[in-house]
Amino acid sequence: MRNNHWAAVLLLTLLLPLAARADEGMWLPLFVKRLNEADMKKKGLKLTAEEIYSVNNASLKDAVVQLGGFCTGEFVSSQGLLLTNHHCGYDAIQSHSTPQNNILQNGFYAASRAEEKQNPGLFVDILVRMEDVTSKVLESITPATPEAERMAIVQQRQRELADNAKENGKYVAYVRDMFGGNEYYLFIYQRFGDVRLVGAPPEAVGKFGGDTDNWMWPRHTGDFSMFRVYADKNNQPTSGPQAGNVPYVPKKHLPVALQGVSEGDFAMVFGFPGRTQRFMPAAGLQMTLDQTNPARIKLRDTRLKLWKEDMDQDPALRLKYASKYANIANYWKYYIGQNEGMKRLKTVDAKKAEEAALAQWISQDPARQQRYGDALNTIKQSYAGLRQYNLGTQYVNEAAFGTEIITLAARMMPLASALKASPTDKAAIDKAVADLKEPVAEYFKDYSASTDKKVFAALMGLYMQDVSKDQQPEVFQTVQKQYGGSMQKYADYVFSNSFLTSEAKVNAFLAAPTAAKLEADPAYKTYQSVYSNYVQNTVPKLQNMQAGLVRANRLYVAALREKNTDKVYSPDANSTIRLSYGTVRPYKGRDAVAYDYKTTAQGILEKEDPTNPEFVVPQKELELLKMKDYGRFADKNGNLPVAFITDNDITGGNSGSPVINGRGELIGLAFDGNWEAMTGDLAYDPELKRCINVDIRYVLWCVEKMGGAKHLVDEMTLQNNGPNPGVGAATAAGAAADMSDIEKMKVKTEKGGKTKIKRKKDAAML
Ligand code: ARG
Repeated sequence: MRNNHWAAVLLLTLLLPLAARADEGMWLPLFVKRLNEADMKKKGLKLTAEEIYSVNNASLKDAVVQLGGFCTGEFVSSQGLLLTNHHCGYDAIQSHSTPQNNILQNGFYAASRAEEKQNPGLFVDILVRMEDVTSKVLESITPATPEAERMAIVQQRQRELADNAKENGKYVAYVRDMFGGNEYYLFIYQRFGDVRLVGAPPEAVGKFGGDTDNWMWPRHTGDFSMFRVYADKNNQPTSGPQAGNVPYVPKKHLPVALQGVSEGDFAMVFGFPGRTQRFMPAAGLQMTLDQTNPARIKLRDTRLKLWKEDMDQDPALRLKYASKYANIANYWKYYIGQNEGMKRLKTVDAKKAEEAALAQWISQDPARQQRYGDALNTIKQSYAGLRQYNLGTQYVNEAAFGTEIITLAARMMPLASALKASPTDKAAIDKAVADLKEPVAEYFKDYSASTDKKVFAALMGLYMQDVSKDQQPEVFQTVQKQYGGSMQKYADYVFSNSFLTSEAKVNAFLAAPTAAKLEADPAYKTYQSVYSNYVQNTVPKLQNMQAGLVRANRLYVAALREKNTDKVYSPDANSTIRLSYGTVRPYKGRDAVAYDYKTTAQGILEKEDPTNPEFVVPQKELELLKMKDYGRFADKNGNLPVAFITDNDITGGNSGSPVINGRGELIGLAFDGNWEAMTGDLAYDPELKRCINVDIRYVLWCVEKMGGAKHLVDEMTLQNNGPNPGVGAATAAGAAADMSDIEKMKVKTEKGGKTKIKRKKDAAML
């Protein structure tokens, strides 16, 4: 799953992050030995903790990279060859496609290194090491330290620690908080800015099933693409593609397993999960359920329909909007599934019960009252306040910033500031202009003003209609007074008069920019009005409420962990490197419905529908499948395996993550989650949640047989060392028997029963 962070970038950076509740296991590799190794061995792991994460010796972590900040990839050759998902490479694939040479549609495999396609701006981060810096960050801070002071100290120390670790630009480094600010970790990476596209199957394979199958099992998608990381001749990173660069030689690459998977096999997923919020309190869940998600769904629904109308009319436009459409549609369906799931699984009620039990536990002991006393109440009150402004915030994000021209206007802000601050400071202005060159070119490469105008009229119209009057930007009064309340008419005016609608006009402006010209532009004015209204009228109120909430959340998380000493918590996902482990395992979706753990090419033929673009099967694939030409990639029953599921805990950002067997061999690529467990990011259900993976044998078949690119398969280290280690099918099927100690404890705790298994206190506190 791809990380969805970018959506909130522009505005939500103004807000403080909310703490969240963690659960079932996206573990920090640093603690594998202490927390997980014994449990993993029981499930079939044959490697040592040192072979998984080591600072001094090559270990699995050296084969796993964060791709572009939003996905995961893994090295599969000593020449820097990288595998990830098709939907992670989608943007790059689309950017190299034209109606004449449509590699998105037809697929592409570089026949030689010279044909590999550069992607300026795309990078991978490789972890050098991580460190627990909690005591350094929190030194001298006490419960009595005022919150504002604490925040300032913490931020300052985070910055200092990171700056130190960067060694003058040699590394990328940052400190992230975990458990709502109770712990802090430093991460140090090497960043490689030369990542070239090597191959991808046709979209009909890489996105087979489209939005219909998205977030669902059973799946028949070849969701993979291939890149290669390049370095300078000393194997060191470069900031971008550079002449003379050569394939990077990774410290470690994953061998590829040919033997395939069986039920009960051990499976481990290494990657960069983006965000979970499993510590979100009931009031937050309620707000997501009845305010946030419905608004997002409604506004995305509107945008997607309008985009699609135009995409269906014009193949060139379809290409331009393909990647944007896929991203917005992906989380549109996610929000729908999350809300359905929250209702079905009564997620809010479960959280309320947990909070009631916590409140009681706190009230039983004066020392606890002293430490945590007001946390739960503060949370409730803060959310009551946040609710007043939440809808308006969602509309700023999804309606105003759902309109492309508004996002372009927002990008002009630094230039506007430079022009206003010192109109004579040519150097500052030139720099602001230079910084805009690339983003502007990229923006217009995939832009249709006439489509965007429709979206503007519709989304801003909904903004004016749905958000309470006292939270609306001033510009809506202009719409009322001068355009008879018609957003359509206002949109006509904006798009006929703004220079932000065309690349030529924007470039003309950039050649001789003035503040007056920018500020007179109707699109820029609209953006200004939305932005200043939000910053002046909403942000201060949100900040007031959030200051209290940050503290309350931190105490709430600390209280939960202190209360449930028998439960081992893992921190919420926050785009840092994690490992999860489990087994290949089927599930029961609902009453009388049981899902198998694997799919085969038979299912591709069953789903095939030449009249439905989401289910078209490429001619070449049809021919090969009909001849059953599976080569060495057939399973033991003579079928071609396509996908399989495991009970690994993953989320958006894990997309492209390697699924690794007990011997450290690659058996698949994680690419999605299942519909029954769409609440997984907020509350985890071990019986329902599954991780959907493309079988590595299908990937190899697509490259070698369908794509004719055997040279790429030959570059990998293929192995067949016999069946994967694991707990066996019978155990995996008999759910409880297969559960690890950690899982058993959780289930018991959740059912409210007293658990007899006690873990050492230090383990419970991570
Ligand atoms: N749901 C998947 C994820 O978030 C994306 C799958 C892409 N495929 C698609 N049909 N949109 O990673």
